[in-house]
Amino acid sequence: MPEPRETHAEEAGMMRFAPADSEAIPLYVLNSESLREWLEGREEPVRRWLELAGFTGAPGEAIVVPEASGAPLLAVAGIGDEASRRRLRFPLAKAAARLPGGIYRIESGLSGDALVRESLGWLLESYRFDRYREQPGMKARLAAPDGVDATRLETIAAGERLTRDLINTPPNDLGPAELETAARSLAEAHGADLAVIAGDDLIAANLPMIHAVGRASPRTPRLLDLRWGDAGPRLTLVGKGVCFDTGGLNLKPGASMGLMKKDMGGAATVLGLAKMIMALGLPVRLRVLIPAVENAIDGAAMRPQDILKARNGLTVEINNTDAEGRLVLADALALGDEEKPDLMLSMATLTGAARVALGPDLPPFFTDDEPLAAAFAQAAEKAADPLWRMPFWEPYEEMLEPGVADLDNAPKGGFAGAVTAALFLRRFVRKTPRYAHFDIYGWQPKAAPGRPKGGVGQGARAVLEALPEVFVR
Ligand code: BES
Ligand code: MN
Ligand code: ZN
Repeated sequence: MPEPRETHAEEAGMMRFAPADSEAIPLYVLNSESLREWLEGREEPVRRWLELAGFTGAPGEAIVVPEASGAPLLAVAGIGDEASRRRLRFPLAKAAARLPGGIYRIESGLSGDALVRESLGWLLESYRFDRYREQPGMKARLAAPDGVDATRLETIAAGERLTRDLINTPPNDLGPAELETAARSLAEAHGADLAVIAGDDLIAANLPMIHAVGRASPRTPRLLDLRWGDAGPRLTLVGKGVCFDTGGLNLKPGASMGLMKKDMGGAATVLGLAKMIMALGLPVRLRVLIPAVENAIDGAAMRPQDILKARNGLTVEINNTDAEGRLVLADALALGDEEKPDLMLSMATLTGAARVALGPDLPPFFTDDEPLAAAFAQAAEKAADPLWRMPFWEPYEEMLEPGVADLDNAPKGGFAGAVTAALFLRRFVRKTPRYAHFDIYGWQPKAAPGRPKGGVGQGARAVLEALPEVFVR
């Protein structure tokens, strides 16, 4: 990503904890049940102040109680009950956003997994996208809590930050070349290798569909191939890097095109995940494959009814140039499959149908591997990074078969679009024993706790959480 610069929000410690030994305002995390008992142990002025303020412990309530001098004595934050936790995901972040400036130390009310989750939520809340405009940073900072691995949480937040920055950067400043630059800086920071195949070399390298999708843009299409680590199981991540999706000749209507800078959300998410894996030094041999293209229009654009031959030899009839993601992913998956990694994952803003099914904040994932599915579902819950399994439903395979070619890139009928897209991708994974595909949205349509409006990573934290489990067999 071009010119990262030190910004105000960054100086204020964006997505970082204040040092554990900071002088800090004691923060009591409460809900309606714990409030009464907690109040009983306080001095009269504290009780009266909170009563006056109408503090009930509901999620998002945040009050500072002053000493007689006016200096802060303590603060309280409401997080509500289990149901509000399920609704809001990071209820403490909602309260934290309303606290006045200062450093806070969680004194009571959270422990174990809940403490870890809410501490991360606070960091995620403090993200600002300020490349084009100064944005006031979040005022309240959290001192690194005892009993959480603060470095791990900051590393996860830094990965998420990379993902959000990449998605939020407008398409004029983030094309295939700039996505390459971002992958290169990431590789350099962690001692990884990056190989790139670009332009007509894609044809020579037998990546014809990446070329076909990207060739109409003056911004050269390319395949980014990052490798890191020299021991452990092989993990290959494939991310859709469509830097802008006009739809091609089957042009998207304006309203649908309006958000298509995020069509590299899969690439942004696998890069964020790779950053977490490398920074934490996980014992895997990591490979990241990103087809980076712009789906544009000119005389060289691929047409409806063109038949392309994919890397693995399958022929594909183009029945909608807007179903481009599966084409570029197909070649990347076929390439990844050739070395038979232990696990291959694809992440992509692949279909509108996935949103119709589950909405913007619950990405579906597809896998045939039951233990893998169970590990992801469990990790999604633990990492507060929700996922929902959908099936590779074999009876729908026939919808992908147009007759004149092996595959149709855009089955007619409009049913089960997320499933047929996933089935299409699976045709390109033949040797790899374990494969899962994530159809993500990559965008937070309106601000929620820990997720400001804009680009957002989905699935990366769940995958990170699941990896130890997945590779112990
Ligand atoms: N990038 C879009 C999918 C998308 C659209 C994701 C809106 C999130 C929000 C993808 O390239 C696309 O256009 N898919 C088509 C496929 C169809 C033509 C078979 C879709 O989902 O409508
Ligand atoms: Mn499209
Ligand atoms: Zn697309």
